[in-house]
Amino acid sequence: MKLFIRKKEGELKDMKIIVAKDYEEMSKKAADFVAAQIILKPDSVLGLPTGSTPVGMYRELVKRYQAGDIDFSNVVTFNLDEYCGLDAENPQSYHYFMMENLFAHINVPKQNIHIPSGSALDIQKECDQYEQKIKDAGGIDLQVLGIGRNGHIGFNEPATYFEAKTHMGQLDEDTIRANARFFNSIEEVPKKAISMGIRAIMQARKILLLANGEEKAEAIYKTVQGAIVPQVPASILQLHPDVVIILDEKAADKLSL
Ligand code: PGA
Repeated sequence: MKLFIRKKEGELKDMKIIVAKDYEEMSKKAADFVAAQIILKPDSVLGLPTGSTPVGMYRELVKRYQAGDIDFSNVVTFNLDEYCGLDAENPQSYHYFMMENLFAHINVPKQNIHIPSGSALDIQKECDQYEQKIKDAGGIDLQVLGIGRNGHIGFNEPATYFEAKTHMGQLDEDTIRANARFFNSIEEVPKKAISMGIRAIMQARKILLLANGEEKAEAIYKTVQGAIVPQVPASILQLHPDVVIILDEKAADKLSL
């Protein structure tokens, strides 16, 4: 494991980049980080991602819970996103994913779990209420993020502006292709999703971004060393005061560290 510090101007804290040797090590380091957050602030508000990237981190967190090292009884969670049109029981939904990979195995109270409802009849109302719930919880203490190979965070897809609030958006063609691996066919991939907006992510007190594999190397390069543009949504993280990025060697391959 190697730690690199990317110096920032002025008030901003330096960006910390940890390069782990492989997915396993990345996942363990990420779990260390989340566990430390919960130990230091047992009533932490966590922002959580889905996708292949965090599966190993969740597995580690479950192990640590089972070993008695962490207690989720006062933790509050907000998931980043959910597909539109899939209800919570649908195995392709992010509700289902979170139950399978984390919530069913730990002691976080049901009422503390928040995931946007993709089957809400009034999507705009669902988005507004989600936004309000994040505010009412006092904002997010630690936001964990994966990244799309197109640089998206949550379903904040490349665009001509940064979408501030929780919103429904169209999935990018590349995201539909990337996520088709979880479905029987590409036609089955929902074309729309509800996503937490850039503001709640940027207002999180700490951010932990994870990426592994060579297909993420370009997005990571643009996020860390490219221009801050809405065409690469994750690039806005350069402006966040407290970001830690944990990568495997392949995802770090294009960075000049
Ligand atoms: P992945 O997705 O972890 O399945 O690669 C990440 C993302 O699209 O944000």
